[in-house]
Amino acid sequence: MRTNRPPIEREIDARGLPLEGKLPSGLRGTLYRNGPNPRAGVADHHWFLGPGMIHAISLGEEQCAYRNRWVLPRDERGLGKANTHAIFHAGSIMALEEAHAPVALVPETLARTGATYAPGPFTAHPKHDPLTGELVFFGYAADGAGSRMIRCGALNRSGHRVWETRFSAPFCSMVHDVAVTSRHIALPILPLARQATSGNDASFAFAWHPELGGHLAVLARGACGDAVRWYEAPTVYAFHIVNAWEDRDRLYLDLFVYDAPPLFPGPQERIPFCQNARPCRWSVAHDGHGPVRVEPLHDMVGEFGRIDDRIAGSRYSQIYCTSRRHPGAPGFQAVARLDLMHGAIDQFDFGSQAFVSEPVFVPRQHHAGPDDGWLLSLVWRPDFAQSRLVIFDAGHVADGPVASVTLPQRVPDGFHGSFVSDVFLDLERAL
Ligand SMILES: [Fe+2]
Repeated sequence: MRTNRPPIEREIDARGLPLEGKLPSGLRGTLYRNGPNPRAGVADHHWFLGPGMIHAISLGEEQCAYRNRWVLPRDERGLGKANTHAIFHAGSIMALEEAHAPVALVPETLARTGATYAPGPFTAHPKHDPLTGELVFFGYAADGAGSRMIRCGALNRSGHRVWETRFSAPFCSMVHDVAVTSRHIALPILPLARQATSGNDASFAFAWHPELGGHLAVLARGACGDAVRWYEAPTVYAFHIVNAWEDRDRLYLDLFVYDAPPLFPGPQERIPFCQNARPCRWSVAHDGHGPVRVEPLHDMVGEFGRIDDRIAGSRYSQIYCTSRRHPGAPGFQAVARLDLMHGAIDQFDFGSQAFVSEPVFVPRQHHAGPDDGWLLSLVWRPDFAQSRLVIFDAGHVADGPVASVTLPQRVPDGFHGSFVSDVFLDLERAL
C-alpha cells in the first residue's frame, strides 16, 4: 500500500492556493505543523526518527499561502530532532521534540531566531496555562541519556523561567506528555523504559518492560521536587494526555491508553503500529498515594486528542482527535469530536487509505464560547497528488469540511501543530 511516510525534497513558497468552499470569516492566521521528514532513500525508517520540517499555511483575506522549511540546518539534522510539535510562545514559534531544547523560529518566515528559552531535554508537549500565560514544561533523562532525573518548570509569557525543580523517577521512561491543572502537574511514568541493549531495533533504546509497572508522579506547581507524590498506575502506555483538572478532592487526567506502545520493541518483537488506544480518565485523591482510579470514557479507537485550549486545565466536555475507523489500517482515517457529556462521537471518515493529522481547534472569534470554533487538519490519500488542509465546523464534524485548501505538495504524516491568529507568512522575506 502507498503510504504518506516518504520524505519530500523541496522547501517551497507558494501563494494563491486553490480553495474549495468558503474560508470562515473569522479564521485568519497561520497553521504551523511539525513532523519528521526522513532522509531520502531510507526505505524503512521509523516514523519517529526523521528530522523536523515545519509546514506553515496562512489563511489570509486575499489568499492562502504556504511555506515549508527544515527546522535545522543540514549538518544539525540528527535523528528525530525538532520534529514533534510547533507552538507559539513569547513571540516565537518553538519547534519541539522531547530529547532536545526548543528551536525558536520567526513566525512570519520560519527562520531560526537563535533565542534559547530552556536547555534540553524539553518536552514536545508543554502546556499553556490560559489563566497565567505560563508555559509549564518538563524534560526526562535530564542528567543524560538513560538517567532517571526529571526536570520540570515554567516559562512566563516573555519566555523567562519562573520555576524549575527536579526529581528522580523509578526508572528512565519515555514520558511524552504532561498533565497540568491550575495547581499541579502529573507525569505518568509508564514502563516504556530505556534498556542497556535495544534488541533487534537499533534505532531505539526504549522498549516495553511491563514488569516495571506504571507510576504517576504528582507535584504542586512551584514546589520543590522533593514534594512529589507517587501513585500506583496501570501497566499500560499513553503518549498523549488530552486535558487535566482538579476539584477539592481529586485530580483528573484524560488520556489515550494503549495496552502496549505501538512501534516499540516488546518482549518478543516490535509491537505493531495498529495497536488501539482508547480514551480513559485517571484520577487520584489529593490526600492519597494510589492506586489510580481508571474510568473508560468511550470505546472509540483514537489518538492525538486536542481541546479548546482556552479551557485547558479546567473541566471540559469535548475531545477533538483522530479516529481509526478501519481496523488494521496503519493510521487514522477520520477527524472526530468526542462529546464526553453525552458519550457521543461526531466524525468524518476520509476513507480506508487516508491519513488524517491531529485536528487543531481554533475559536470562531476571540470571545466565542467554549468549543465554538473550527477544526483544522491535514489529510492525505493515495488519490491526492498533494495534501489538503480541511476545515470543519467543530460542532458539526460529520457534515464534512466547510472548506478545503489544496497544498502545493504532499506533507508527510506529521504529529502536532498550532494555529496562530492574525499572524501571516511573509513570503517576500527570503531566508
Ligand atoms: Fe505527541
